[in-house]
Amino acid sequence: MTSTAMNAAAGTAPALEMHEVTKVYGEGENAITALASATISIGSNEMVALVGPSGSGKTTLLSIAGGLLAPTSGQVIVGGRDISHASPTELTEVRRNTVGFVFQSVNLVPFLTARENLLLVDELRGSRGKQSKARADRLLDELGLSKRLHNLPSQLSGGERQRVAIGRALMNEPALVLFDEPTSALDTQLGEQVMELIQSEVKGRGTAAIIITHDSRMTHWCDRTVRILDGRLQSDELATAG
Ligand SMILES: Nc1ncnc2c1ncn2[C@@H]1O[C@H](COP(=O)(O)OP(=O)(O)OP(=O)(O)O)[C@@H](O)[C@H]1O
Ligand SMILES: [Mg+2]
Repeated sequence: MTSTAMNAAAGTAPALEMHEVTKVYGEGENAITALASATISIGSNEMVALVGPSGSGKTTLLSIAGGLLAPTSGQVIVGGRDISHASPTELTEVRRNTVGFVFQSVNLVPFLTARENLLLVDELRGSRGKQSKARADRLLDELGLSKRLHNLPSQLSGGERQRVAIGRALMNEPALVLFDEPTSALDTQLGEQVMELIQSEVKGRGTAAIIITHDSRMTHWCDRTVRILDGRLQSDELATAG
């Protein structure tokens, strides 16, 4: 039995499967293989740390997993759906409904308040109204931002902005949340707090997550750590407790 079949038998399809995924940027002499035959499976409630040096292919892997970037070759299955050959329209739909992103540079809309930044996710999906507002307010409350609903990003601290970005990533109730260095701009203490929040939000929802980090002090929040070097996934070990 393959791991896919076993997961299906257990009623929990993996949130993400990548088979032999390669990404080559550029052509000819300028070609760069950013990802080389990457194979990985992330369980439906699994939180995985992705660790590797600068330029090793972490953001590339995350972008392909989230349907932001097409692989050069290989198979990508998100929430049970094969997106390897998806059209741009299908990819947009996957991004809106199945995945959540928290980018390295937080990327909040500067002229919208914290709450409006969350509501925008539902507006883009064509749904808005009382339920959206209730979900946004509940998320912001869980993230400790109930008194910051009406602040613009420029009126928030770095840690608060990061928490709004986490709330926004969870707005569409995604099966898979992708975090690109969510703690890189924060000091150690704030970084720990944000990781703790991410863990409780992700685990509380039974969502899967991949968290890119440079910081080995953050990996203990995750179920396991996957390492990447020069576009190659290295190991797939159980994270040690504590
Ligand atoms: N759009 C692009 N065009 C050409 N090369 C690219 C492009 N994006 C990334 N690369 C190259 O692909 C490789 C992997 O880049 P990637 O952004 O995935 O690394 P990373 O592990 O996320 O690094 P960092 O920790 O610095 O964010 C690097 O050598 C990078 O220069
Ligand atoms: Mg990166």
